[in-house]
Parts: sequence; C-alpha cells; structure tokens
Amino acid sequence: MNKRKIGRFQPLPVVPIVLVGAMVNGKPNFLTVGCVGAVNMKPPILMVSLNKSHYSLIGIKKNRTFSINIPSAENVIETDYCGLVSGKSHDKSKIFTTFYGDLETAPMIEECPITCECKLLDTKEFAQDIALFGEISQVYANEEESRTKKFDLLKVNPIFLSGFENLYRNTAESHILGRCYKIGEQYRCTQKLLGPKTCIRGPTVVEKDEFQIIGIEDIDTVEDRNPGEVWAKFQQFAPLIPNRDQSHGLGIYIETEELMKVGKNRYVVGNEIATVEKIPKGMISETIPKQKYAVFTHVGTMANLQQTYDYINEQWHPDKPLYEKTPFGVIIEWYDQRFRRDSEYSELDLYIPIQKKKT
Ligand SMILES: Cc1cc2nc3c(=O)[nH]c(=O)nc-3n(C[C@H](O)[C@H](O)[C@H](O)COP(=O)(O)O)c2cc1C
Repeated sequence: MNKRKIGRFQPLPVVPIVLVGAMVNGKPNFLTVGCVGAVNMKPPILMVSLNKSHYSLIGIKKNRTFSINIPSAENVIETDYCGLVSGKSHDKSKIFTTFYGDLETAPMIEECPITCECKLLDTKEFAQDIALFGEISQVYANEEESRTKKFDLLKVNPIFLSGFENLYRNTAESHILGRCYKIGEQYRCTQKLLGPKTCIRGPTVVEKDEFQIIGIEDIDTVEDRNPGEVWAKFQQFAPLIPNRDQSHGLGIYIETEELMKVGKNRYVVGNEIATVEKIPKGMISETIPKQKYAVFTHVGTMANLQQTYDYINEQWHPDKPLYEKTPFGVIIEWYDQRFRRDSEYSELDLYIPIQKKKT
C-alpha cells in the first residue's frame, strides 16, 4: 500500500488517560494527562510529561511527589474538567474525594479504581514540556479487585484518549464517552447563570423504582413552612426507625389536587427503608411510585437553593422538546455525605419528575 507524508505530530492513536495529583499551596490539585508511560519494571518507574506552565508542577517540584490515578468511564466529565481548567484559577480540590498514602504529599482519588503514589526521581526538559520520572512507592486498588490480584479491565473501565478523533472511548463497549476538552463543560455547569457561588449540574434522566420511606410529615403553604424545623424534628426521631438506610436523607414534596386548592402541599422528610415493619409514633410511612426523573445537582449553599429551582422551572423546563413536568409528580431532594449546609461546595441532588411529551 502506498504511504503519504501527513506531518509531524504525536501519532500514538490511543493512550490511557490518567489524573496526576499534586499538593499545591496546601491543597490537592489534579490535572488530566495523556502523556504517560511505564519506563522501568523493577523498581517500577513511570513517566508523565507536563507542560512547563502547569500549576501542578509547583507542588510536584516542591514535594518531589505526585500521584497517578486511573479514572473510570463514570468519571469522564470530572476527568475532562480537570484538563479544561487550571488550579491557578480554579480550586479542583473538591471535585473528588482525596486520600493520602505513606508519602503524605501525593493526593490520590478515592473514586479511581487504581491509584499510585510516586517519588519524583528525575526530570528532563524539552522545548515545551518537562518529563517527570516517578518511582512508584505504592499502588492502591479497590479491595474487591485487589483480592484476586487479577484486574478485570472491564471492571476498572478506564478511559482511553483516541487522539486522531479527539474523543474519549472505553473498552467495555468501545463506545464514545465524549469529546475531549468539551464534555468537562458539563461540570463547569451554568455558573454564570446562577451567580458566582451557585451552580447546577445535570440533568441526567433516571427511572427510580417504587420505594418506601418513614419520616416526618408537614402539611403547609410553602411560605409558612420552615423546612429546617421539619428536618430538626426528623433528626430527633430518626434513630427510632428500624432498618433505615442512613446513607442519605430525603426531603419529598407531594402535591394533591385538594391541597393545591388551599395553596398547600405535603413535605415529608425521611429515610428509605426496604420494608415497613413498625412506624414509630409521630411518624408516617409513604410509598413513592416508580417514576422518571431529571436529576440535577445543586452546588452551593442552601440559601441559594431557590435559584436552582427557579432555573429548572423557568429556563430548563419550558424549552424541552421531549419531556415535560409530570403533573402531581413527587419532587425529591436527596441529601448525602456531599451535603454541607453553608458551604459553597455543598451538593444536593434534586429529582424532578418528568414524563415524555405527548406528540
Ligand atoms: C484529554 C486531555 C489530555 C491532556 N494531556 C496532557 C498531557 O499529557 N500533558 C499536559 O501537560 N497537559 C495535558 N492536558 C492539559 C492539562 O490537563 C490542563 O492544561 C490542565 O488544566 C492543567 O492543570 P493545572 O494547571 O491545574 O496543573 C490534557 C488535557 C486533556 C483534556
């Protein structure tokens, strides 16, 4: 077959994508890297090549440590976002849950199935980039995978950068995960729209099966309700709920035609339970039907939550060609360990009931 000259560029068509972690100015910082490779087996040494202007280099040079984190396809948005913005102007320390190993200054990412911490051995400068050689001091893997010591690639589900196409792909179904330097925009959200300290992620459309909760009920007008009081009461009685799922708490808004006529709705704060055995005194149980939801994540303080609802109702809903709000559908607020009441980094998922528009 005849060959044609097509220019001077990096021809490696597919490389695994990693997140390099470094401690910079007292905070963990992560950047997306495709220039990565193994250079020695024993001792294990690898190389990553970084542009000399990157913020992460400050921390790597200072501490002489860094981490390599192999993200899964589920985290493709966050992964791309770490390559879209620099730690110089954006705090990337809260995107993932970080943990530290023996080196203490190489932040690693809990959400990544395989991570490792490295000691900086040597560097080699080129025109634009600097190659960093790191000796791997320890590899960390999810317990489940590490037990057999045989990593199932499909379970790790790493992200590959397909350089010719500028796309992320995964091995599992070899399907396209998203466009490089683009899909991360979804993490950046609509910050401008909602003000400097509030943003909204999503939505993703999910179908949630019927489930049951036990909790505290409040029937009132939205204006007269104090959700904080309902939560305080719930927290007081919650330990009495048998077999409750404590991984998250739910705030649920239920509308009925009768209540709407008098300007009220029901607000139920509770925990999910597999089966209702005993309902503690003063509490109620509620069955939430199977429903389709658009799930948004509100990132910001509770004081700014209304901005997110306004965005969903006034801007997101009106121009959706496919879906509309389900009349008398149940709205769910999902509070888990990401929720920190007054923090601008607090996250809370809003499940907005939707149905396919009738054509
Ligand atoms: C898919 C992808 C691959 C990247 N690969 C590299 C790379 O190999 N080396 C590099 O220096 N930057 C790479 N980048 C760019 C950096 O991740 C990006 O400039 C980042 O914002 C730098 O972060 P920092 O300034 O906080 O260190 C890549 C970005 C993306 C999206």
